Amino acid sequence: MIKRFRFGNPIETDTVINKCDISLETIDKFTVTNEEKLVFTYQMDPQDVVYGLGENINGINKRNFTYISRCMDGSRHTEDRNSLYAAHNFMLIKGKETFGVFFDVAGIISFDVGETDIDKLIVTSDDQDLDVYIIDGTSMQDIVTQFRAMIGRSYIPPKWAFGYHQSRWFYKTEDDFREIAKKYQEAKIPLDAIYMDIDYMDEYSSFTINRKNLPNFEGLVSEMKEQGIHLVPIIDAGIKVKPGYNIYEEGVKGNHFCKDANGNDFKCGVWPGYCHLVDVLNDEHRKWFGDQYKFLLDKGIDGIWNDMNEPSIFYTDERLNEAYEMVDRLRGSELDLQTYFGMRKKFSTLSSNPKDYQLFYHDINGKKIRHDKVHNLYGYNLSRAAGEAFERMSPDKRILFFSRSSMIGMHRYSGIWTGDNHAWWSHLKLSIHQMPNINMCGFLYTGSDIGGFGSDTNEELMTRWVEFGIFTPLMRNHSQSRRAQELYVFNHTETFKNLVELRYALIPYLYSEFVKAALNNDSYFKPLSFVYEDDARTYNIEDQLMVGESIMIAPVYEQNCRGRYVYLPEDMKMIKYRSLDDYEEVEMSKGDHYINVVLNELIFFIRKNHVVPMAKPALTTKDMDFDNLYLLSYVKDPIEYVLYDDDGYTTDMEREEHFHKITVNNNECHCTSKKVTLL
Ligand code: GLC
Repeated sequence: MIKRFRFGNPIETDTVINKCDISLETIDKFTVTNEEKLVFTYQMDPQDVVYGLGENINGINKRNFTYISRCMDGSRHTEDRNSLYAAHNFMLIKGKETFGVFFDVAGIISFDVGETDIDKLIVTSDDQDLDVYIIDGTSMQDIVTQFRAMIGRSYIPPKWAFGYHQSRWFYKTEDDFREIAKKYQEAKIPLDAIYMDIDYMDEYSSFTINRKNLPNFEGLVSEMKEQGIHLVPIIDAGIKVKPGYNIYEEGVKGNHFCKDANGNDFKCGVWPGYCHLVDVLNDEHRKWFGDQYKFLLDKGIDGIWNDMNEPSIFYTDERLNEAYEMVDRLRGSELDLQTYFGMRKKFSTLSSNPKDYQLFYHDINGKKIRHDKVHNLYGYNLSRAAGEAFERMSPDKRILFFSRSSMIGMHRYSGIWTGDNHAWWSHLKLSIHQMPNINMCGFLYTGSDIGGFGSDTNEELMTRWVEFGIFTPLMRNHSQSRRAQELYVFNHTETFKNLVELRYALIPYLYSEFVKAALNNDSYFKPLSFVYEDDARTYNIEDQLMVGESIMIAPVYEQNCRGRYVYLPEDMKMIKYRSLDDYEEVEMSKGDHYINVVLNELIFFIRKNHVVPMAKPALTTKDMDFDNLYLLSYVKDPIEYVLYDDDGYTTDMEREEHFHKITVNNNECHCTSKKVTLL
């Protein structure tokens, strides 16, 4: 049951697609005060648990910290960061009352989940105009499923997107890309995609190619595709101000850019220097931007990532001039403590400065709206531009697509990655925490930069991160570090080969669980408590996750750790994996266990009366046989598993023939349309 409460006269966010009528009652779960800002307060019991809020930092349970939905570019995801790149305003409260709540608002909103007052949840919206949805249900998953049905079906990528992906900022030439493919092939580590970061562009200008480094871009795309490898270029939000550059010229002529207070195209600095920002909140301008993706699709590209779309602003002339004035004023003088720190702050706040978001305007259906009022809609609509364009230009074939900035609503068009993390153990753990909450907010295709984007990684951290990454839908190794971190550079390449092979072997299960979750408004990753709602212990477990209906994972995420405690909420079968030819299967009883897990080992668990369909891995998904499957199983009673499988790119996913029934009874298994063998 969902109730919608309206405050003021909100701007349409296009977040909710199945809206219920506005309730005439007053909201009863929260006390509401309305002074300068709209404040919603909820009295929490000590044992109440708060889930949701998507990508935000800290634990799966969000209590005792404040999260602010203000989409923001920032590369240090430290424990005190209130905002990352997303606005995921959905929460689930479980305790004396259990309900979901979604704040549908385009502006900045903060969630103080017991930080100021340990017993209070205080939600403060800068904008006094918004809709609040309260969702009641029979279980936590039921609440999430109702919410997800309300916001519409999650984006589903092609099957090859479940392969392993290699990325690194600084791959430049055709030979760079060839070499990566070759080295992976030599090491026999499967690979389905190599990413192209901003260096493939001409002067970092979106929808251009640097022909000096990539004279035969089109040829390279098809050469790679013949090997089963997809090249995935990046697109940045800012459009370089450069006479002669077609996108710039057309954008100016068509009035597609956001305007400053005087009606001129707003100018800010990003990678290419001065840029304009497309007014993607306007239908016509969004369509124009979407149409530009044809440039890449025509070249054979079928996977793209969208970046810097918060929108990220490195500087504006206004902010730079303030800083220069300060330097001019202080030049030659001795700096006292306050002046010194004041000057440092001037420079450290040049980027993503809230004042800059007040400098430009959108034209939303003929209404001029200042950007800061609708800030969180920007990344969403920039990626929506692409998603809508793909629906127009490639109606029969799914395109891999994910974005850095996001807001709920965008989940219908795109996946997300969690941005610029670091090669820190705490960020491996953070990624484990982020996944289930991101799923609750509708984004199913997601993952973090494996190995860490910033700082240098090391072989141990990379190994553990790959072990977790095997289960994330997006399994991408991406970095900007000095130290190379392609999997073939490390000493124990064999371990990485074995791990990535497991990922490929699991694709039938991972893909099936993913697509079913999308079609049924279910989650792919869940906290244990979602499945074992009556088991109080599970509410304290933040380092184990359910992956689909059959698997529980318990990753190792600490330095020099060669084992860990695992809590089994029911009897399960542990798989201790070293390679596809060398793994143990151990039946274990409900309760606590300490399990040794040396570095080349990975453990995961199969729930009782469940199966995990697998296939024989190959060097790319293109070469895999998905009609001959093998079943890992822990079956005591007759069971049935519904396997989803299709050609991997169709957009018509709900067809009956994509659902294959597997039955297991008395050590025998049968499938309606595939050959299945019990392992
Ligand atoms: C941003 C992205 C990162 C990318 C870099 C260069 O920092 O988050 O993934 O590599 O820009 O494009």
